[in-house]
Amino acid sequence: MRLLVCGGAGFIGSTFVRQRLREHGDEVTVLDKLTYAGREENFHDFAGEEAFAFVRGAIEDPEAVGGAIAGCRPEAIVNFAAETHVDRSIAEPDAFVKTHALGTHVLLEAAREWGLRYLQVSTDEVYGSIEEGTFTESSPLRPSSPYSATKTGADLLVQSYFHTYELPAVICRGSNNYGPYQYPEKLIPLMILNALHGDPLPVYGDGMQVRNWIHSTDFAAAIGHVLEHGQPGEVYNAGGPDEEPNMTVVRRIIELTGASESQIEHVTDRPGHDVRYSLSSEKVRALGWEPKVRFEDGLSQTVAWYRENAWWWEPVRSGDYREYYERQYGRALS
Ligand code: NAD
Ligand code: TYD
Repeated sequence: MRLLVCGGAGFIGSTFVRQRLREHGDEVTVLDKLTYAGREENFHDFAGEEAFAFVRGAIEDPEAVGGAIAGCRPEAIVNFAAETHVDRSIAEPDAFVKTHALGTHVLLEAAREWGLRYLQVSTDEVYGSIEEGTFTESSPLRPSSPYSATKTGADLLVQSYFHTYELPAVICRGSNNYGPYQYPEKLIPLMILNALHGDPLPVYGDGMQVRNWIHSTDFAAAIGHVLEHGQPGEVYNAGGPDEEPNMTVVRRIIELTGASESQIEHVTDRPGHDVRYSLSSEKVRALGWEPKVRFEDGLSQTVAWYRENAWWWEPVRSGDYREYYERQYGRALS
């Protein structure tokens, strides 16, 4: 396939691009604004390949989107482009509204104009928190943060383009991802890098919140599978095989890095913190996808990757991220 992958310079987007180039022989053009989270370093192992091209631009810019499509004539748009951190959405929601509402609208209009298939990458957070049981695709949408509310708005707009204009659009909702190339503001890479540096490990509240962890290569494969086999107009959940409370995750990272329990620091809880996410993936499993990486193995591979790839995270940890960290946690990194 020829694909336009929006937001392909981020964590999961670049994992998806790598997989499509290596395992499927696709031709891929990435359109990405390169926010703090988007990095050309994420293309380091395929940047020079003929089947790959990169265009810097924003999805809310119709000219950039039209130009990228005219340049690569894709069969489908896969949209990863998003602001993705709940804590940043609480501090500064503006960019979330712009990218998720305006950006998704521009992409949908372009897909309509050029007659393209469309896949929206979404999240389990649109369903809100669940104390027991697991969300299916027909669960009510009850987002609780500006991040998840604007992602939900984007999903509803995508569905309206299927119902109103018969745009062949699908949505794939993933649970919490982890793996190589994840920006260190998120729980797992933040804890790994702090553990390796002897910094405090800031656990929000009691740390008993539960997340349903999926390795980024498994989510990328689910997205590819839905793109190839999904029914237009449908939503497909892709949840990971394991659920863990945050404290268990942090303790495993301490074991894997040789850090000390005394580095754990319980800090003020996130406002409106969702207690538990859990996704049922029966519908996408029926299409033939299943996750391959168990959390225990994936986490130790991820710790090893961060240990071995300081070239990737050193510029991040010594750049703007330091200021973000100080604002968010009220203390400096070592
Ligand atoms: P990320 O923050 O690592 O990457 C986001 C990418 O989007 C970056 O490259 C950034 O530069 C780009 N971007 C942001 N705004 C843009 C804009 N206006 N125009 C063009 N590019 C823009 O995020 P990620 O973790 O890789 O998440 C990718 C997608 O997967 C998002 O849609 C997210 O909601 C969804 N998702 C993430 C998770 C997770 O746990 N990380 C789980 C489920 C779903
Ligand atoms: P995060 O990686 O931000 O993903 P999300 O909020 O989208 O699930 O956080 C995962 C969990 O870890 C969530 O319950 C909040 C918690 N957390 C901490 O306890 N400390 C931290 O420093 C961070 C970033 C997250």
